[in-house]
Amino acid sequence: MSTAPATFSESVEHIIDEFSVTPNPHPASEADRNALIGAPKFGTVFTDHMAAISWSRTGGWDDHRIVPYGPLAMDPATAVLHYGQEIFEGLKAYRHADGSTWTFRPEANAARMKKSAARMALPELPTDDFLAAVAGLVRTDQAWVPTFHDSALYLRPFMFASEPFLGVRSANEVEFMVIASPVGPYFSGGVRPVSIWLCRTYHRAGPGGTGAAKCGGNYAASLLPQEIAASKGFDQVCFLDGGEGTYLEELGGMNIFLVKADGSVHTPELTGSILEGVTRSSILQLATDRGHQVVERKIPVTELQEGIVSGEITEVFACGTAAVITPIGRMAGQDFDSVIADGDPGTLTMALREELTGIQYGLIPDRHGWMQRLA
Ligand SMILES: Cc1ncc(COP(=O)(O)O)c(C=O)c1O
Repeated sequence: MSTAPATFSESVEHIIDEFSVTPNPHPASEADRNALIGAPKFGTVFTDHMAAISWSRTGGWDDHRIVPYGPLAMDPATAVLHYGQEIFEGLKAYRHADGSTWTFRPEANAARMKKSAARMALPELPTDDFLAAVAGLVRTDQAWVPTFHDSALYLRPFMFASEPFLGVRSANEVEFMVIASPVGPYFSGGVRPVSIWLCRTYHRAGPGGTGAAKCGGNYAASLLPQEIAASKGFDQVCFLDGGEGTYLEELGGMNIFLVKADGSVHTPELTGSILEGVTRSSILQLATDRGHQVVERKIPVTELQEGIVSGEITEVFACGTAAVITPIGRMAGQDFDSVIADGDPGTLTMALREELTGIQYGLIPDRHGWMQRLA
């Protein structure tokens, strides 16, 4: 299925050629690399190189480079360490059966990074530079893209205030970087429904805040609630809106969907405090293609509680790049604890998961032109 050209524009190829490449003098041996790729724990193993582009207020984006992966030397006064002016992205490179390497909707990640940058008073990185950095790194470290089932090379573009300065203002110097990490199947032993704790005590974001931006601070705010959920025996935490505490928002790192008995598919609308997931928008499209009514709206948590009990809500799932689509089998909060559909993963949930991963791994046609060939 990976025969479509899906090549980059000339301008992106031109930028890829402009990257200076400093080869890692001590790359992992083939045996070490294969051992690392074979048993990766999410986010702990990194490839031989990293991509970087520097920005200054006077010079703009400059110094496109691919260099050996390694620690960054930082002045202790570097602004990001104090005020958290930082954003990031997450996408994957997938190996297809013919050996080619592809990624999924990278322009959407580039666009989201621009939006995040605007909110965090960081400079917007042009889409072509974003794509070129991702492609340049993957081409350099192609051998690190896993070949086995359900595995991928996770790509982490990020941008941070690199100016050593303690005044509270947006930085005049910024670094954009991409690192890559081979990842195995998210669920060892196959997909299983997860349990969710509905958090009423803390919010990850609020009206007018940074919830719609992919910035580190949102994740820092989600860590304590996640620990509380874990201490109660739950896999993940689900946040409610920060204004009224009435409506479902999202999980710490995934969007949420529910399916009703009439086949309609519902997800919280983008209110400004929810991250607009690339997986979320792809699912909205795939469910529409299948003829399902798709609704983005405010979903009161009471509707969820009552719907699970009455059987009107038949499936609940979470979605994001890392785990693709994850069935939710149990939801609980201070005043309720419900098992969804007897813990069954859900027919539509699993069908959407199969279709989306089929497109990503080149097993079924990419009718929306979502796949981009990297190498
Ligand atoms: C808070 C949050 N919501 C939703 C998502 C899902 O986004 P995507 O589908 O683009 O991975 C993520 C993952 O990046 C996330 O961190």
